[in-house]
Amino acid sequence: MNRKTIFDFQTMKTKGEKVVFITSYDYPTAQFAEAAGVDMILVGDSLGMCVYGYEGTIPVVMDQMIFHAEAVRRGAPSTFLVGDMPFMSYQSSTEKAVENAGRFLKEAHCDAIKLEGGKRIVPTIRAIVDAGIVVMGHIGLTPQSSGQLGGHKAQGRTIESARTVIEDALAVQQAGAQMLLLEAVPPEVGGLITQLLRIPVYGIGGGGETNGQLLIVSDVIGQFQAFTPKFVKKYCNVAEVVTSALKQYAADVRSGAFPAEEHVYRMLKSEAPNFPALADEYRVKLGQN
Ligand code: KIV
Repeated sequence: MNRKTIFDFQTMKTKGEKVVFITSYDYPTAQFAEAAGVDMILVGDSLGMCVYGYEGTIPVVMDQMIFHAEAVRRGAPSTFLVGDMPFMSYQSSTEKAVENAGRFLKEAHCDAIKLEGGKRIVPTIRAIVDAGIVVMGHIGLTPQSSGQLGGHKAQGRTIESARTVIEDALAVQQAGAQMLLLEAVPPEVGGLITQLLRIPVYGIGGGGETNGQLLIVSDVIGQFQAFTPKFVKKYCNVAEVVTSALKQYAADVRSGAFPAEEHVYRMLKSEAPNFPALADEYRVKLGQN
Protein backbone atom coordinates (compact mmCIF):
# COMPACT_ATOMS: atom_id res chain seq x y z
CA MET A 1 0.00 0.00 0.00
CA ASN A 2 1.23 3.50 -0.84
CA ARG A 3 2.09 5.79 2.05
CA LYS A 4 -0.61 8.48 2.46
CA THR A 5 0.30 12.13 1.97
CA ILE A 6 -1.00 15.38 3.38
CA PHE A 7 -3.27 15.60 0.29
CA ASP A 8 -4.89 12.28 1.19
CA PHE A 9 -5.56 13.53 4.72
CA GLN A 10 -7.06 16.74 3.35
CA THR A 11 -9.33 14.67 1.05
CA MET A 12 -10.32 12.42 3.95
CA LYS A 13 -11.41 15.53 5.88
CA THR A 14 -13.51 16.70 2.93
CA LYS A 15 -15.14 13.28 2.57
CA GLY A 16 -15.72 12.89 6.32
CA GLU A 17 -13.44 9.80 6.56
CA LYS A 18 -11.87 9.35 9.99
CA VAL A 19 -8.11 9.06 10.38
CA VAL A 20 -6.74 6.34 12.67
CA PHE A 21 -3.69 7.71 14.46
CA ILE A 22 -1.60 5.86 17.07
CA THR A 23 1.75 6.35 18.76
CA SER A 24 4.56 3.86 18.33
CA TYR A 25 8.09 3.82 19.73
CA ASP A 26 9.71 0.64 18.41
CA TYR A 27 10.08 -1.62 15.40
CA PRO A 28 7.74 -4.49 16.35
CA THR A 29 4.89 -2.23 17.46
CA ALA A 30 5.24 -0.21 14.26
CA GLN A 31 4.94 -3.46 12.29
CA PHE A 32 1.73 -4.31 14.17
CA ALA A 33 0.33 -0.81 13.57
CA GLU A 34 1.05 -0.98 9.85
CA ALA A 35 -0.42 -4.51 9.63
CA ALA A 36 -3.55 -3.19 11.39
CA GLY A 37 -3.88 -0.52 8.69
CA VAL A 38 -3.55 2.63 10.82
CA ASP A 39 -3.31 5.80 8.72
CA MET A 40 -0.70 7.69 10.71
CA ILE A 41 1.88 6.98 13.44
CA LEU A 42 3.26 9.47 15.97
CA VAL A 43 6.64 8.82 17.55
CA GLY A 44 5.58 10.77 20.61
CA ASP A 45 7.74 12.14 23.40
CA SER A 46 5.34 10.14 25.60
CA LEU A 47 8.03 7.50 25.09
CA GLY A 48 9.67 9.23 28.06
CA MET A 49 7.01 7.67 30.29
CA CYS A 50 5.96 4.65 28.25
CA VAL A 51 9.44 3.36 27.36
CA TYR A 52 11.97 5.04 29.67
CA GLY A 53 9.92 5.23 32.88
CA TYR A 54 10.43 8.98 33.39
CA GLU A 55 7.75 10.84 35.34
CA GLY A 56 6.95 13.05 32.33
CA THR A 57 8.18 14.11 28.90
CA ILE A 58 10.57 16.88 29.96
CA PRO A 59 13.79 14.78 30.12
CA VAL A 60 13.40 13.43 26.56
CA VAL A 61 16.10 14.63 24.12
CA MET A 62 16.33 14.79 20.32
CA ASP A 63 18.71 11.84 19.93
CA GLN A 64 16.28 9.54 21.74
CA MET A 65 13.46 10.69 19.47
CA ILE A 66 15.56 10.09 16.36
CA PHE A 67 16.64 6.58 17.42
CA HIS A 68 13.04 5.57 18.11
CA ALA A 69 11.71 7.24 14.95
CA GLU A 70 14.30 5.36 12.85
CA ALA A 71 13.15 2.04 14.36
CA VAL A 72 9.49 2.90 13.80
CA ARG A 73 10.15 3.86 10.18
CA ARG A 74 11.85 0.48 9.61
CA GLY A 75 8.78 -1.26 11.08
CA ALA A 76 6.23 0.82 9.18
CA PRO A 77 7.73 1.83 5.84
CA SER A 78 4.32 2.53 4.26
CA THR A 79 2.69 4.59 7.01
CA PHE A 80 2.67 8.40 7.36
CA LEU A 81 5.08 9.10 10.23
CA VAL A 82 5.10 12.13 12.52
CA GLY A 83 8.12 12.94 14.74
CA ASP A 84 7.37 14.74 18.00
CA MET A 85 9.67 17.65 18.89
CA PRO A 86 10.83 17.13 22.52
CA PHE A 87 11.07 19.84 25.17
CA MET A 88 13.82 22.41 24.39
CA SER A 89 14.32 21.19 20.84
CA TYR A 90 12.36 24.18 19.46
CA GLN A 91 11.76 26.68 22.27
CA SER A 92 15.14 28.45 22.46
CA SER A 93 15.50 29.65 18.83
CA THR A 94 13.85 29.22 15.45
CA GLU A 95 17.21 28.15 13.94
CA LYS A 96 17.48 25.30 16.43
CA ALA A 97 13.82 24.40 15.82
CA VAL A 98 14.31 24.18 12.03
CA GLU A 99 17.51 22.14 12.43
CA ASN A 100 15.87 19.66 14.81
CA ALA A 101 12.70 19.40 12.71
CA GLY A 102 14.93 18.64 9.71
CA ARG A 103 16.64 15.80 11.60
CA PHE A 104 13.33 13.91 11.78
CA LEU A 105 13.12 13.99 7.98
CA LYS A 106 16.80 13.47 7.12
CA GLU A 107 17.69 10.82 9.70
CA ALA A 108 14.42 9.02 10.44
CA HIS A 109 12.53 9.60 7.18
CA CYS A 110 9.50 11.07 8.97
CA ASP A 111 6.79 12.73 6.86
CA ALA A 112 5.97 15.51 9.33
CA ILE A 113 6.84 16.90 12.72
CA LYS A 114 4.59 17.87 15.64
CA LEU A 115 5.21 20.60 18.19
CA GLU A 116 3.25 21.91 21.15
CA GLY A 117 1.89 25.44 21.45
CA GLY A 118 -0.46 27.94 19.84
CA LYS A 119 -0.12 31.69 19.33
CA ARG A 120 3.19 31.95 21.13
CA ILE A 121 5.04 29.60 18.78
CA VAL A 122 3.70 31.03 15.51
CA PRO A 123 7.16 32.29 14.35
CA THR A 124 8.62 28.82 15.01
CA ILE A 125 5.88 27.08 13.02
CA ARG A 126 6.39 29.58 10.16
CA ALA A 127 10.13 28.99 10.08
CA ILE A 128 9.74 25.18 9.98
CA VAL A 129 7.04 25.40 7.28
CA ASP A 130 9.30 27.78 5.28
CA ALA A 131 11.98 25.08 5.39
CA GLY A 132 9.54 22.83 3.48
CA ILE A 133 8.51 20.63 6.39
CA VAL A 134 4.94 19.49 7.08
CA VAL A 135 3.93 20.67 10.56
CA MET A 136 1.26 19.32 12.89
CA GLY A 137 0.35 21.77 15.65
CA HIS A 138 -0.60 20.50 19.11
CA ILE A 139 -2.82 22.62 21.39
CA GLY A 140 -5.24 22.24 24.32
CA LEU A 141 -3.46 20.23 26.99
CA THR A 142 0.22 20.53 26.12
CA PRO A 143 2.16 18.19 28.43
CA GLN A 144 5.54 19.96 27.96
CA SER A 145 4.06 23.12 29.52
CA SER A 146 1.79 21.35 32.02
CA GLY A 147 3.57 23.22 34.83
CA GLN A 148 2.09 26.48 33.53
CA LEU A 149 -1.32 24.81 33.07
CA GLY A 150 -1.32 23.69 36.72
CA GLY A 151 -0.90 20.01 35.80
CA HIS A 152 -2.22 17.61 33.17
CA LYS A 153 -5.65 19.27 33.05
CA ALA A 154 -8.27 19.39 30.30
CA GLN A 155 -8.41 22.80 28.59
CA GLY A 156 -11.31 24.80 27.11
CA ARG A 157 -13.80 23.96 29.85
CA THR A 158 -14.72 27.62 30.45
CA ILE A 159 -15.74 30.13 27.76
CA GLU A 160 -12.52 32.06 28.35
CA SER A 161 -10.36 28.96 28.07
CA ALA A 162 -12.35 27.70 25.03
CA ARG A 163 -11.67 31.06 23.34
CA THR A 164 -7.94 30.67 24.02
CA VAL A 165 -7.94 27.18 22.46
CA ILE A 166 -9.90 28.43 19.40
CA GLU A 167 -7.53 31.42 18.97
CA ASP A 168 -4.56 29.05 19.22
CA ALA A 169 -6.07 26.77 16.57
CA LEU A 170 -6.61 29.67 14.16
CA ALA A 171 -3.09 30.97 14.79
CA VAL A 172 -1.51 27.55 14.13
CA GLN A 173 -3.41 27.21 10.83
CA GLN A 174 -2.53 30.80 9.85
CA ALA A 175 1.15 30.06 10.56
CA GLY A 176 1.10 27.33 7.89
CA ALA A 177 0.64 24.11 9.89
CA GLN A 178 -1.08 21.50 7.71
CA MET A 179 -2.59 19.44 10.54
CA LEU A 180 -3.64 20.10 14.12
CA LEU A 181 -3.81 17.87 17.17
CA LEU A 182 -6.19 18.84 19.98
CA GLU A 183 -5.58 17.26 23.37
CA ALA A 184 -8.10 17.03 26.23
CA VAL A 185 -10.75 19.56 25.29
CA PRO A 186 -14.56 19.25 25.49
CA PRO A 187 -16.28 17.69 22.44
CA GLU A 188 -18.05 21.00 21.70
CA VAL A 189 -14.69 22.74 21.40
CA GLY A 190 -13.20 19.89 19.35
CA GLY A 191 -16.22 19.90 17.04
CA LEU A 192 -16.22 23.67 16.51
CA ILE A 193 -12.48 23.85 15.78
CA THR A 194 -12.82 20.94 13.33
CA GLN A 195 -15.54 22.90 11.49
CA LEU A 196 -13.73 26.24 11.60
CA LEU A 197 -10.36 25.00 10.27
CA ARG A 198 -9.54 24.10 6.66
CA ILE A 199 -6.77 21.74 7.80
CA PRO A 200 -7.44 18.28 9.30
CA VAL A 201 -7.94 18.32 13.07
CA TYR A 202 -7.22 15.19 15.09
CA GLY A 203 -8.08 14.64 18.72
CA ILE A 204 -6.73 12.81 21.73
CA GLY A 205 -9.44 13.38 24.29
CA GLY A 206 -11.13 15.92 21.99
CA GLY A 207 -14.47 14.15 21.45
CA GLY A 208 -15.89 12.30 18.47
CA GLU A 209 -16.24 15.13 15.95
CA THR A 210 -12.59 15.66 15.06
CA ASN A 211 -11.26 14.33 11.74
CA GLY A 212 -9.53 11.42 13.45
CA GLN A 213 -8.45 9.96 16.77
CA LEU A 214 -5.03 9.53 18.34
CA LEU A 215 -4.30 7.25 21.29
CA ILE A 216 -1.08 6.18 22.95
CA VAL A 217 -0.37 2.59 21.97
CA SER A 218 0.86 1.65 25.46
CA ASP A 219 -2.60 2.65 26.81
CA VAL A 220 -4.52 0.91 24.03
CA ILE A 221 -2.80 -2.43 24.64
CA GLY A 222 -2.74 -2.14 28.45
CA GLN A 223 1.03 -1.94 28.76
CA PHE A 224 1.44 1.41 30.57
CA GLN A 225 0.63 0.98 34.25
CA ALA A 226 1.26 4.32 36.03
CA PHE A 227 -2.07 6.04 35.20
CA THR A 228 -4.87 5.95 32.63
CA PRO A 229 -6.35 9.24 31.34
CA LYS A 230 -10.15 9.49 31.03
CA PHE A 231 -10.00 9.53 27.22
CA VAL A 232 -8.28 6.13 26.95
CA LYS A 233 -10.01 2.95 25.82
CA LYS A 234 -8.00 -0.23 26.49
CA TYR A 235 -8.38 -2.94 23.86
CA CYS A 236 -6.30 -5.65 25.54
CA ASN A 237 -4.19 -6.19 28.63
CA VAL A 238 -0.64 -6.89 27.54
CA ALA A 239 0.65 -6.37 31.09
CA GLU A 240 -1.45 -9.33 32.29
CA VAL A 241 -0.56 -11.53 29.29
CA VAL A 242 3.20 -10.85 29.56
CA THR A 243 3.33 -11.17 33.37
CA SER A 244 1.47 -14.47 33.19
CA ALA A 245 3.82 -15.79 30.46
CA LEU A 246 6.89 -14.80 32.50
CA LYS A 247 5.47 -16.49 35.62
CA GLN A 248 5.01 -19.72 33.65
CA TYR A 249 8.56 -19.43 32.28
CA ALA A 250 9.92 -18.92 35.81
CA ALA A 251 7.99 -21.94 37.08
CA ASP A 252 9.22 -24.11 34.17
CA VAL A 253 12.88 -23.10 34.71
CA ARG A 254 12.64 -23.79 38.45
CA SER A 255 10.92 -27.16 37.97
CA GLY A 256 13.18 -28.25 35.09
CA ALA A 257 10.23 -28.43 32.66
CA PHE A 258 12.14 -26.01 30.43
CA PRO A 259 14.13 -26.68 28.32
CA ALA A 260 12.45 -29.80 26.94
CA GLU A 261 13.81 -32.16 24.26
CA GLU A 262 12.47 -29.94 21.44
CA HIS A 263 14.50 -26.95 22.71
CA VAL A 264 18.00 -28.54 22.65
CA TYR A 265 20.65 -29.11 19.96
CA ARG A 266 21.74 -32.78 20.08
CA MET A 267 25.30 -33.69 19.00
CA LEU A 268 25.67 -35.16 15.54
CA LYS A 269 24.82 -38.91 15.73
CA SER A 270 28.25 -39.87 14.38
CA GLU A 271 30.01 -37.75 17.07
CA ALA A 272 27.92 -38.53 20.16
CA PRO A 273 29.68 -41.87 21.03
CA ASN A 274 33.01 -39.98 21.39
CA PHE A 275 31.66 -37.45 23.89
CA PRO A 276 32.18 -39.51 27.11
CA ALA A 277 35.91 -39.71 26.25
CA LEU A 278 36.05 -35.91 25.87
CA ALA A 279 34.25 -35.47 29.19
CA ASP A 280 36.67 -37.87 30.93
CA GLU A 281 39.67 -36.04 29.46
CA TYR A 282 38.54 -32.75 31.05
CA ARG A 283 37.46 -34.30 34.37
CA VAL A 284 40.96 -35.79 34.69
CA LYS A 285 42.58 -32.49 33.66
CA LEU A 286 40.63 -30.62 36.36
CA GLY A 287 40.98 -33.33 39.00
CA GLN A 288 37.23 -34.02 39.08
CA ASN A 289 37.38 -37.74 38.33
O1 KIV B 1 3.93 12.34 22.92
C1 KIV B 1 2.77 12.02 22.65
O2 KIV B 1 2.40 10.85 22.54
C2 KIV B 1 1.83 13.11 22.45
C3 KIV B 1 0.39 12.79 22.70
C4 KIV B 1 0.12 12.79 24.15
C5 KIV B 1 -0.48 13.77 22.01
O3 KIV B 1 2.22 14.20 22.20
